[in-house]
Amino acid sequence: MARKKIIAGNWKMNMTPSQAVELVNTLKPLVVNDEVDVVFCVPAIDIIPAMEAARGTNIQIGAENMYYEEKGAFTGEIAPDMLTDVGVKYVIIGHSERREYFAETDETVNRKVLKAFEHGITPIICCGESLTQREQGITIDWIRQQIKIAFLNVTAEQAASAVIAYEPIWAIGTGKVATTEQAQEVCKAIRDCIAEIYDQTTAEAIRIQYGGSVSASSAPELFAQPDIDGGLVGGASLKPDFGAIVNYK
Ligand code: 13P
Repeated sequence: MARKKIIAGNWKMNMTPSQAVELVNTLKPLVVNDEVDVVFCVPAIDIIPAMEAARGTNIQIGAENMYYEEKGAFTGEIAPDMLTDVGVKYVIIGHSERREYFAETDETVNRKVLKAFEHGITPIICCGESLTQREQGITIDWIRQQIKIAFLNVTAEQAASAVIAYEPIWAIGTGKVATTEQAQEVCKAIRDCIAEIYDQTTAEAIRIQYGGSVSASSAPELFAQPDIDGGLVGGASLKPDFGAIVNYK
């Protein structure tokens, strides 16, 4: 069965709640496309107003992060129940910015992934290499390690429903998009790694996105690759261009 594409925006630390409503209203007529899942991952404080603005449309509102404990003395964190209570179904886990600035590791990513599944939230699990790693020829080894740890104790059924975002760090916010061949090569390696951990059926079901300077012009070729099932889009998700990315064909 063909995998449904999933195109998600990652707003990062942008948009106040009132700007979020405005942006959803601007984008909602532009992102209509029943053939793909459309998700806007927004700052926690924007989730509720963005959801209200998106009601009745094909837009799903997701979160950018979540903690791996149920509740308690974790000042400033967002619990899984807080997300599910308002209807959140997707959460970005382990974005390279969280790994770099907020000390997230493969182990904390794994704990968050397990917690998200426990609550029925689909994790969008991020992985990606630095420029040094690419230049040293260790990209695939590095990504395989990130994937193997992220999926520790995750069942095949859960894994089949997960989303992985391959985002080379050197391509994020730089305008330097990976070539189609580079993106396809790593996304295929990720799928092979999932087949190795689980089986072919799980590998064929899991959705793998590419992220890193995706634009309206690069999206069509990237999303046409056999192992690229959509994108995780930063900068361009805050602009009307996102409509063109969602309607890339
Ligand atoms: P840009 O699309 O701005 O490069 O960001 C990519 C990203 O980090 C999405 O998570």
